Amino acid sequence: MKLQSLPLARHLGGVVLTCALALPTLAHAQMASGQTLYEQLGGKPAITKVVHDMIVNVAADNRINHFFAKTNIPHLQMELVNQVCEGTGGPCKYTGLSMQQAHKGMKLSTADFNALVEDLQKSMHSNHVPLGLQNQLLAILAPMEPDVVHQ
Ligand code: HEM
Repeated sequence: MKLQSLPLARHLGGVVLTCALALPTLAHAQMASGQTLYEQLGGKPAITKVVHDMIVNVAADNRINHFFAKTNIPHLQMELVNQVCEGTGGPCKYTGLSMQQAHKGMKLSTADFNALVEDLQKSMHSNHVPLGLQNQLLAILAPMEPDVVHQ
């Protein structure tokens, strides 16, 4: 299936809506398996691979790669991995900037935000992350949008 054909890949509004509807079932699935999302994703190695591939996708994405021209990419990857690890119930601690501080002065738009989400979805897709787990991770990231855009 082409990624673009997934309703989730179209825009974040769709992501939020789909996630909101899907969450009770997914939360139930998580309880049933007794595993955190972190564990279901495959722990830190799998999260590191997904984040790494997302950054590779961002680097090739002419819609948003200019924002990262002066960024220390290994540092960004480390911060993102810790953030996702902690946010999904893993043993890591995110010690980076707040989302408002990290994106201050960038004047990011919702379109920029959605482009990065697409690059993440592309990475999760190529790393064979099941759609239910993709939705759970996106549901954790989506509420950060107001702190990321228009700063
Ligand atoms: C949910 C969405 C996002 C999350 C979770 C996120 C997370 C982060 C984190 C953890 C950092 C590192 C903070 C630190 O160094 O302490 C960061 C930095 C950065 N983010 Fe985001 N980000 C998001 C969206 C975006 C978007 C949409 C863009 C641009 C299209 C973007 C561009 C950047 C850039 C350029 C930096 C590095 C700034 C620097 O060079 O110091 N981010 N982000």
